Amino acid sequence: MRVILAQPRGFCAGVERAVEIVELAIRKYGPPVYVRHEIVHNKRVVEKLRSIGARFVDELDEIPDGAITVFSAHGVAQKVADDAGLRDLPVIDATCPLVAKVHREGQRYAEQGYDVILIGHEGHPEVEGTRGRIPGGVHLVSSVDDVDRLRVRDPAKVSYITQTTLSVDDTRVIIDKLKQRFPQVAGPDVRDICYATQNRQQAVHLLAQHVGVILVVGSPNSSNSNRLREIAAEMGIASYLIDTADDINPAWFANVDAVGVTAGASAPEELVQEVLNRLGQITPVEIENLEGVEENVRFKLPEMLWDVAGSPY
Ligand code: F3S
Repeated sequence: MRVILAQPRGFCAGVERAVEIVELAIRKYGPPVYVRHEIVHNKRVVEKLRSIGARFVDELDEIPDGAITVFSAHGVAQKVADDAGLRDLPVIDATCPLVAKVHREGQRYAEQGYDVILIGHEGHPEVEGTRGRIPGGVHLVSSVDDVDRLRVRDPAKVSYITQTTLSVDDTRVIIDKLKQRFPQVAGPDVRDICYATQNRQQAVHLLAQHVGVILVVGSPNSSNSNRLREIAAEMGIASYLIDTADDINPAWFANVDAVGVTAGASAPEELVQEVLNRLGQITPVEIENLEGVEENVRFKLPEMLWDVAGSPY
């Protein structure tokens, strides 16, 4: 069986940075380091960091006074940052700079008197964080029907921002509907969807043209990984989201000549290698790499970790 690997796949620059922040914080300050929310949505990453001294909590009140506190890559609401400030918690912010950029965009619109619409998924921590960063709040929409139900103060003063890990195609449909309802709506088009999400989605589109089955390595709570699986499914390709190689069912490959493998932005490459090993145990495989966009994005680390990192990157 041919196994074709998508390019790019796996870790994005925001995830690399967030994971490194926790590792460096443990190295510099010693364990435990408290992380509010899973640092990134991947079970293996979380388990590994836990094994070296990270403690993951849902809320700040689970963190003892004075303990080093890391905010996850998804970002946090202003209230969470303020509460940490009131408690004088030493915070290291691992919010992805591209999420922080969306916060600033929304804040700018709110300051200019716009109603801000956030296109995103209810309950996702990034959405909770972004919503809680915009003074006056946001209207959350997840579908075209939600756009129909919107009630705004002034239809001529409406703007939108988006979650960074959405499907480019689905988001475009929602934006078109917003433009139909509010012709003067201001917004970034699909540019809030980050480079890593867009590149991985584009790679899955391409991969789907060459294979009969697609495996997406990623945890069930990873938004961008779910979108990758959905894109393959929408293109009529059987696709499965797998946390680890153990989730693979050999029956998926009956009568299949070529299987595609990709990984969400929070899934480490070691999981992809384990998937390849597992496929090789099921049947002899020939591994190929699909051509794709080369990424060389790096984000600066928080300044308080430059000493232990040896550089700002
Ligand atoms: Fe950031 Fe995009 Fe990754 S928003 S954390 S670069 S998926």
